[in-house]
Amino acid sequence: MQTIILAVALVSSIAWTNAAQGPLLLPAQESLAKIQRHGYVPFKRHIPSNLNLRGGGKGNVLITGGAGYIGTHCAVTLQEAGYTVMILDNFSNSCKKSIERVGEITGKSIEKVFDVDIRDKAALDKVFKENKVDAVIHCAGLKAVGESVREPIAYYENNFVGALNLIKAMSAAGCKKIVFSSSATVYGNPAKVPITEDFPLQCTNPYGRTKFFIEEMLRDVANADPEWKVINLRYFNPVGAHSSGKIGEDPSGIPNNLMPYVTKVAIGKLEKLTVFGDDYDTPDGTGVRDYIHVMDLAKGHVAAVDKLFSIEGEVVYNLGTGHGYSVLDMVKAMKEASGREVPYVIGPRRSGDVPTCYADAAKAKQELHWEAKLGVKEMCQDAWNWQCKNPNGYREEAELAGAKK
Ligand SMILES: NC(=O)c1ccc[n+]([C@@H]2O[C@H](COP(=O)([O-])OP(=O)(O)OC[C@H]3O[C@@H](n4cnc5c(N)ncnc54)[C@H](O)[C@@H]3O)[C@@H](O)[C@H]2O)c1
Repeated sequence: MQTIILAVALVSSIAWTNAAQGPLLLPAQESLAKIQRHGYVPFKRHIPSNLNLRGGGKGNVLITGGAGYIGTHCAVTLQEAGYTVMILDNFSNSCKKSIERVGEITGKSIEKVFDVDIRDKAALDKVFKENKVDAVIHCAGLKAVGESVREPIAYYENNFVGALNLIKAMSAAGCKKIVFSSSATVYGNPAKVPITEDFPLQCTNPYGRTKFFIEEMLRDVANADPEWKVINLRYFNPVGAHSSGKIGEDPSGIPNNLMPYVTKVAIGKLEKLTVFGDDYDTPDGTGVRDYIHVMDLAKGHVAAVDKLFSIEGEVVYNLGTGHGYSVLDMVKAMKEASGREVPYVIGPRRSGDVPTCYADAAKAKQELHWEAKLGVKEMCQDAWNWQCKNPNGYREEAELAGAKK
């Protein structure tokens, strides 16, 4: 009996500990059933003879920017997948309450939270020196395109120098596995759709270039040192929230992205939406994008972390649904989910916007055994649920009067 229990424990821990062995391919039907159930298929490997279990769990994953929108959802899915999560954030665009909410969802609070800025190399070194980190998901960064045009130096310093500091600290500590939050913005104005990972990269703004340069830096690092395992994830348009309504997107001020804006119009906090152009060559004339539910995106991160142990060097994956929806499709879906009107006006086109942008998500499906499961309906329902339960985001009414999040 004891032998059987030990064997079960070993198999459940194996995804983390046996990097040297290749994955045992599952029969196609079993894979499909698992994708349908979980959104991804965890890798199974042979049991190695020299197991080096790390505290019985699957391993310690540090999420930089882990208090933010995507980081919190990744924290939930990673905890649920058996990883021990640590969070590092400077809380410039988030607050500690979001981390408490992760614990409320999973029933397991995050014990190690580092209030650290990635521009502070010494503080980063200390974190890696004092803690056993097996892999990093690097989400910390500034992300507003318009702001990056006005303040490029701040973006290069925060995003690029911060990433360089992180890589140096990881390297010094011998932690050489990283999943990076890149963006479909690195494709610039694609010549056609759907976009595959081998499309030429051409960024149109400083924010996009920070993503591109970080990707390039990670590719160079992985080329130079085979111990490095790098996965660059190019997100399309993450929207929605956890179905509990406990965590979600909490932009400060006027939202830069479409869906938080639409949600705030639906709840009456903003008067109306301006649609930038209705004369594009698309079915209804408005821009078409690939919206992906943030929980699907988060599951893509679990699949990527699992995959870090069987790749060579650097690999890129698109995380999108492979389907495009227009601005007016999204407005209609939010109207249906909320039962509220979403008033809008048509404005001029915005410079730099492309008519249509959506992913070819086949590579992630084939190699990560992951695909997006949730549709536009769930994206809007969950975003609306989060908005209704948290009309002021993570802030209490009393905190609002001009206070920082
Ligand atoms: N949300 C999107 O639409 C989208 C799309 C593509 C890529 N991304 C990328 O994904 C990542 C996460 O995005 P998000 O939507 O969760 O944003 P977010 O602002 O909610 O989260 C980013 C987190 O990083 C933290 N941070 C910023 N600078 C930091 C620094 N110097 N040191 C430590 N922490 C710092 C912020 O406080 C915040 O908690 C970003 O890198 C973003 O560029 C986001």
